[in-house]
Amino acid sequence: PLVSTGELVARARAAGHGVAAFNVITLEHAEAIALGAERAGSPAILQISENAVKFHGGGLSAIAAATAAVARASSASLALHLDHVTDAELLRAAHPAGFSSVMFDASKLSYGENVKATAEAVRWGHERGIWVEAELGEVGGKEGEPPLDAHAPGVRTDPAEAAAYVRDTGVDALAVAVGSSHAMTERTATLDHELIASLASAVPAPLVLHGSSGVPDEEIRRAIASGMVKINVGTALNTAFTGEVRAYLAAHEQGVDPRKYLAPAREAMAGTVAGFLGLLT
Ligand code: G3H
Ligand code: ZN
Repeated sequence: PLVSTGELVARARAAGHGVAAFNVITLEHAEAIALGAERAGSPAILQISENAVKFHGGGLSAIAAATAAVARASSASLALHLDHVTDAELLRAAHPAGFSSVMFDASKLSYGENVKATAEAVRWGHERGIWVEAELGEVGGKEGEPPLDAHAPGVRTDPAEAAAYVRDTGVDALAVAVGSSHAMTERTATLDHELIASLASAVPAPLVLHGSSGVPDEEIRRAIASGMVKINVGTALNTAFTGEVRAYLAAHEQGVDPRKYLAPAREAMAGTVAGFLGLLT
């Protein structure tokens, strides 16, 4: 069934578990995530990024409707989340399209502008029952200069500033920079576990780990034990998917039916999903 992100995150946090959010690009991604969640007997969050929306021509409703339909038909509890939104118009489209949550990404703005824009997004969301995640770019940077991407390697979130940010914006969850970075195809990241524990005690909102594709299993387990709650995974699904497509096409030069490679690609993604879900409890 289709459930809400806020509910899944609250349940995971209360149990001391993590909840995974997987990025959906194609219908096969949504199907693979549902399949993996069913096999693992776990809930999951289906997230569609602003970039994926752009890939589908900018319209939110078609990919969102397909993904929501997959969630409704599944025996697993699945939520629909709009990820890394910078466009205010797209943010407003989330509610009619059936999303229960959004990640509003003002991390490229200066600290003051980020707080202002995010507080506004939170007000908008809470009036509609939408759970809002946000992120802090590199804090404590030079006045008037845009911060570094929070998920560039080496960037760290400061606990005191994170606490002030959550207080001043009212966000429901905070994405923090603790050593992971986006789009890694090898699982070689090491996390700052002491920082995760300090952030978890300083910040009242649940913490979100972005770029989890590059984080080894044991690091993810430890991060959850230290207080990380929402675990975002995108690239690892694409690595699994594309590996199968590449192998099929290399072996079948005359092949033209996409189902011949989409089926093993979807199956490989489902296996990756189940693998990540097995780390969370
Ligand atoms: O918001 C999405 C995630 O941070 C995914 O990152 O593709 O590096 O796993 P990843
Ligand atoms: Zn991310």
